[in-house]
Amino acid sequence: MEKEQHINQATQLLRSGELVAIPTETVYGLAANALDKTAVSKIFEAKGRPTFDPLIVHVKSAEALKDYAQNIPDVAFKLAEAFWPGPLTLILEKRDIIPYIVTSGNDTVGLRMPNHPLTLELLQQLEFPLAAPSANPFGYVSPTEALHVEQQLGEKVKLVLDGGACKVGVESTIVKCYADQVEVLRLGGLPVESIEEVIGKPVDQIKTSSSNPQAPGMLSSHYSPLKPLYFGSIRENLERFHPDRVGIIWFENDNDILDSTHQRVLSPNGDLNEAAANLFRFMRELDAIDVDVILAEPVPDEGLGRAINDRLKRASHPTER
Ligand code: TXA
Ligand code: MG
Repeated sequence: MEKEQHINQATQLLRSGELVAIPTETVYGLAANALDKTAVSKIFEAKGRPTFDPLIVHVKSAEALKDYAQNIPDVAFKLAEAFWPGPLTLILEKRDIIPYIVTSGNDTVGLRMPNHPLTLELLQQLEFPLAAPSANPFGYVSPTEALHVEQQLGEKVKLVLDGGACKVGVESTIVKCYADQVEVLRLGGLPVESIEEVIGKPVDQIKTSSSNPQAPGMLSSHYSPLKPLYFGSIRENLERFHPDRVGIIWFENDNDILDSTHQRVLSPNGDLNEAAANLFRFMRELDAIDVDVILAEPVPDEGLGRAINDRLKRASHPTER
């Protein structure tokens, strides 16, 4: 089928209150009409997602900010102008038009303009924005390819719009804006350093805790493969397990024990952007092969490296956190 036909099909399904999986530059989303309560409730059902975990609303332009949020601080416009379309979600005071099921009863809404040509075209055709969480069962690793969605959500989604592999590979950075303050709620695909450059000062410390998460995706156990993942020195952890029973995610190609069936290298040349784009696929692949545990090591804690380390830590075995 032609691209246009797929988009038309998606448009029709979404208009009739159905779910469609959509590609974005970060991860695939499971989308519904954000202004239709019944349609949105199907997202929670399909994902097995608790209703206390609010959804991000995807918009077609920076101007649309004003349609769904109010009392928007200047800094939010500044960030939208600088980074949209892109991997940045802004948490702002919501307008009444956004139903509470989307925001889990909060008076704030998360807004983002995704940077993917198919989804932008889709949003242009629609008369409403799209509420969309990552298209994975709750708690599991986010999908970065259409196939991942099909494998995991199957018949629960009427259509997966295939936009290829996600270029960024980790979810959007989430920030809360009020007055001239910017607080990071979730590290993600837009480096904190880039935000600080635009606002001309350091962002507020990340104030999330697993017991009282401001962004419930920040629950300490999240983004997890099914197998226990040990996050730390790979060489030390290798002494704890039988070498045939481990899958390994290295950062760079600085080792001599490579065996491609059980091991992956996030970026042979140590490029953090490439590493982020590969992370979730590798976690899935090692989860699917015949090993008992997955080992991974921290990457440099800068740029997208901070989001990678955050996801690996959350994916890791509780005793290791
Ligand atoms: O890159 C992304 O952000 C992807 C793509 C599909 O856009 N979406 C994504 O959605 O990661 P999800 O639902 O898996 O994670 C969204 C996070 C959740 O942790 C949620 O708690 C938080 O955003 N969030 C949404 N609305 C919020 C609000 N009003 N206040 C605080 N956190 C909010
Ligand atoms: Mg998610």
